[in-house]
Formats: sequence, C-alpha cells, structure tokens
Amino acid sequence: MTNGQQPIPLARPQVGGREEELLLDALRSRRLSLGPMLGAFERSLGQRLGAENVSAVSSGTAGLHLALRAAGVEAGDEVVTSPFSFVASANSILYEDARPVFCDIDRRTLNIDPAAVAAAVTGRTSGLLPVHIFGYPAAMEALEKLAVQENLWIVEDACEALGAVHADGRAVGARGNLSVFGFYPNKQLTTGEGGAVVSPNADLKSQIDSERNQGRAPDMDWLDHDRLGFNYRLSDIACALGVAQLEHLDTMLADRARVAARYGEALAGVDELDLPCPDAGGDRRSWFVYVVQLPPSVDRDDTIRELRVRGIDSKPYLPAIHLMSFYRERFGHREGEFPVCEDVARRSLALPFFPELAEGEVDRVATSLREVLDASRASASA
Ligand SMILES: Cc1ncc(COP(=O)(O)O)c(C=O)c1O
Repeated sequence: MTNGQQPIPLARPQVGGREEELLLDALRSRRLSLGPMLGAFERSLGQRLGAENVSAVSSGTAGLHLALRAAGVEAGDEVVTSPFSFVASANSILYEDARPVFCDIDRRTLNIDPAAVAAAVTGRTSGLLPVHIFGYPAAMEALEKLAVQENLWIVEDACEALGAVHADGRAVGARGNLSVFGFYPNKQLTTGEGGAVVSPNADLKSQIDSERNQGRAPDMDWLDHDRLGFNYRLSDIACALGVAQLEHLDTMLADRARVAARYGEALAGVDELDLPCPDAGGDRRSWFVYVVQLPPSVDRDDTIRELRVRGIDSKPYLPAIHLMSFYRERFGHREGEFPVCEDVARRSLALPFFPELAEGEVDRVATSLREVLDASRASASA
C-alpha cells in the first residue's frame, strides 16, 4: 500500500553503460577468475586511495577475516571494537576464536570513543578494530597513539567509508594500517558482492593474496598449497564492475553529498530529530546512508509503518551488536552496558539514500517524516 505514490526504495546501485561494456570485456576474455580485471581493479583502487598493496576479495567480511589473520590475531585474544556496527565487524573476530570487546561510541560521530577504547584495553588485548561508521572517519590519530603505547595492531573496518578523508588529507583506509572495504550494492561503489584489503606492505599483501586463493603462492601450481587458505577470490566479472564504478566514483560521491545536503535542509529544525553530524575538524565523511535519530518519545515501528503507507522505505539502522541474542547468550551482555550506543540504536532510522535520488523524492520523504512525527506528537498529547 503506497497511497498511490511511486515507492521510494532505501538504496539503489548506480550502474550504466560503462559497467555493461567492461562486463562484456570480462566475459569475452574467457578469464572469469584470476584474469586481467583483478589486477586492473586492485591497481585503480590503490591509485584512488594512495595505497600500494590492495587485494580484492569476495566480500567485506572475507576481507576482515583475512586482515585479522594478517594482523596476527590469535585464539583467546581480546579485540576492542564498536557495538554500533554491522554485525560482520564483530563476527570476523570470532572466526579466529578471539573475543570482541565492545566499548561505547561518541555521540556526535557514532564511532568508538578513544577514551572508552583505552578503558577497555586489558593485558589480553592484542588489537583494535575501529569502524568508520556511516562513512565518517574514526578518530584514528588517538587510536594509533594508544596502539603504539599498548603495543596493539589495528584493523580498520572501512567497509562503509570509501571516499572519506581524514583531516590530514589521507584517504580513509590509507593510513598504513590493515584496512578493509566492502562493495555490497548499497555501498558507495559496488561489485555486486565484494571487498578489498589494503595492506601496509607487500609481504602482508602476498599473505592475503595467498589465503584468499586456498593458500597458494602466485608461482604455485593449482593443486599446491603451502598454508591454510580460503576461497575468498573476487571474480573477474565482479572486478570489471569495480573498474567501471571507480571511473565514476567521484560523480556518485558528489551526488550522494548533494542528496545528504538536501535532506539536511528539508529536515532542519524538526524538534528532537537528530540528523547525521556535519564534518568537523577537517575530517570529511563519504556519504553512505542517511540515518536520523527519532525523537525519544516517538514509536519507531509506527513511524516505519506510516512511511511505508506513503510508499517510503525506511529501517532501523543499526541494532546494537552486543544486544543481539547470539551475543547476549555467548557473552552475557545486557542492556545498559553502552548507553550511547543503545540510545542511538533505539532511535536510529535509515531513510532512502542513493546517488540518483531526485530532489523531489528527498522532499517527499522529508515532508512525510515531518507529517508522521507531527501526528505522533499530536496523538501523544491528546
Ligand atoms: C561496517 C561494515 N562492516 C562489514 C561489512 C561486511 O561487508 P560484506 O557485506 O561485503 O561482507 C559491512 C557491509 O555490509 C559493513 O557495513
């Protein structure tokens, strides 16, 4: 039911003629995996980031797994990370039988708060896994300082942050830590499924290249394996998409920023509605999603339902990881542990957001949200 209005989805990837052309090239090459598109994608992405050692992999999750292994995580290690993230960032730590230790987030940026990270470090902590959530750069300088003091490694989850830039001018993911990007269709750049790991040196890149390919070195025969490996390869078809997407990434990022700015204008001044934080201190967000925090008294499920009636998709984004049943049962987490994260998770609502969202559609979403919130307030005070 959409009240006769065209439905507006939450996300929609932008693909065009160049993607079709390069996909055909990949098909015609008959090299559908480990072919020329793999290296082409890795090189273009590296150039874009200002990083030399890029490994394309089958997903952001696979990338996190390989990056953690490359960092040297071991069973029983504690890894400090964010409870306000997509679940894969914490799950990847469990893949190596290490333990995700959560800490609370900064209310403005929604990234882990360096002071809370410092307080969560123990003698068993081996590393930090900060997430650049919603494309906003995490406070890497403070985290890197802490990592040096405490002798910790860092793996950055930059899955949502391709195109973001730190105050010092370095691209997010290109600071010299192991960093991971994701290319699912809702991301700034998509390969359908896919991801990439940026390594600080060529040795770690070769370890990752080998482990993504069943533990083979580049000079080995197909059935030779000299270490434990996985099938985390990204096909040449997916890499072809990636090469084409990189060619128009800047335009897509600019379009996302334009849509976000329009939302900002259209939703300004709504009482108790918190909008995504503007850039500050020289850090630059790469717009990934447009997530608002609803006024505390508003029922989010009702809001989602009312928006749906008006043909508008929206969803809670993100739930707190430590309160998911699996994490509660396994680690005994409970409500109240990370109050900022829990408050944000309770109130957050993702609105439709993608590069081709027209101004009129943004305005329709904003007007509808205003109406729904006004109606909710009116019924609460009746
Ligand atoms: C913060 C974060 N980490 C990890 C991932 C996992 O990436 P993928 O879905 O490509 O495995 C995602 C993507 O959804 C993400 O948003």
